[in-house]
Amino acid sequence: MGFSSFTFLSFLLLLPFSSPSPSPSNLPILSFHEAYNHLFGDANLLLLNHGKSVHLHLDERTGAGFLSQDLYLHGFFSASIKLPADYTAGVVVAFYMSNGDMFENNHDEIDFEFLGNIRGKEWRVQTNIYGNGSTNVGREERYGLWFDPAEDFHQYSILWTDSRIIFYVDEVPIREVKRTASMGGEFPSKPMTLYATIWDGSSWATNGGKYKVNYKYAPYIAEFSEFVLHGCTVDPIEQVFPKCDLTQISEASIPNNITTAKRTKMESFRRKHMTYSYCYDHLRYKIPPAECVLDPQEAKRLQRFDPVTFGRGRRHHAKHRHSSQAEFTSV
Ligand SMILES: *[C@@H]1O[C@H](CO)[C@@H](O)[C@H](O)[C@H]1NC(C)=O
Ligand SMILES: *[C@@H]1O[C@H](CO)[C@@H](O)[C@H](O)[C@H]1NC(C)=O
Repeated sequence: MGFSSFTFLSFLLLLPFSSPSPSPSNLPILSFHEAYNHLFGDANLLLLNHGKSVHLHLDERTGAGFLSQDLYLHGFFSASIKLPADYTAGVVVAFYMSNGDMFENNHDEIDFEFLGNIRGKEWRVQTNIYGNGSTNVGREERYGLWFDPAEDFHQYSILWTDSRIIFYVDEVPIREVKRTASMGGEFPSKPMTLYATIWDGSSWATNGGKYKVNYKYAPYIAEFSEFVLHGCTVDPIEQVFPKCDLTQISEASIPNNITTAKRTKMESFRRKHMTYSYCYDHLRYKIPPAECVLDPQEAKRLQRFDPVTFGRGRRHHAKHRHSSQAEFTSV
């Protein structure tokens, strides 16, 4: 893998803020055949343009999905995605890493989930991580976007190193999860496969399940292209022995930090667009998980947005919640 840190950094640093769907031209863009295999949904997965793009359909019969041929320990994983338009309530498009098929009780996961919406309301994006089977501690955040993700392709990326996970939308970092001592094993640390799927999330995706998938509008089509899988591959049999020098991945070829300018953009994005953070959800966590660093201004902002979930002294509402799945509190 011959990428210098310079070419990678220049890709992250030089793209203008508002450029739609920048392609990471300094990292190789792989075709479907080079990187992925079909996971489910038979004819609902369509290859186009010699495998450079993939369409995943959801209809009344099934959704569809694909998964990476390789297992990875750390790396930079990216796709340009265009989401279905119009009425998409209940529809979930997911771009994520997981090892749930290998570690049933202590799996890791890093998620981008796109939650559809009723007509006229935009898609929401959710990020989450699980480490070593920590599924009773959801670490969800949700955001609106500064563009309509159904109108054009945008790049969604996951950077995963041994010390941090950064989610990017186009070239803007939107969330950074640092490995802290208090998280212990709850930081994803075992090799994972990359997945992309579309499925029916009627029971929870839109307003906590209030709006279901309406198949009158099917097929729902999510489009994927510009596949970047730049990581350390791992032999599936000898899972713990990466086939490359991990320090190279985490320190040289992948910038393991966010520049000050990028950090300013991230903070601005979070101020303007974040609608949910597990750290402030008093209904779920009387005491926020230890890695949470609470910001009184952020707390106030979220509280104005949703006084029940983020308010104080309203904990009696907690008993009405039947599910540990974070509910979608506002369309
Ligand atoms: C992960 O979970 C397994 C099984 O529950 C446990 O034995 C192991 O110590 C955990 N690893 C870490 C790093 O916490
Ligand atoms: C990461 O960058 C920030 C500025 O954005 C700086 O304060 C911090 O020291 C850097 N951390 C490392 C480990 O380089």
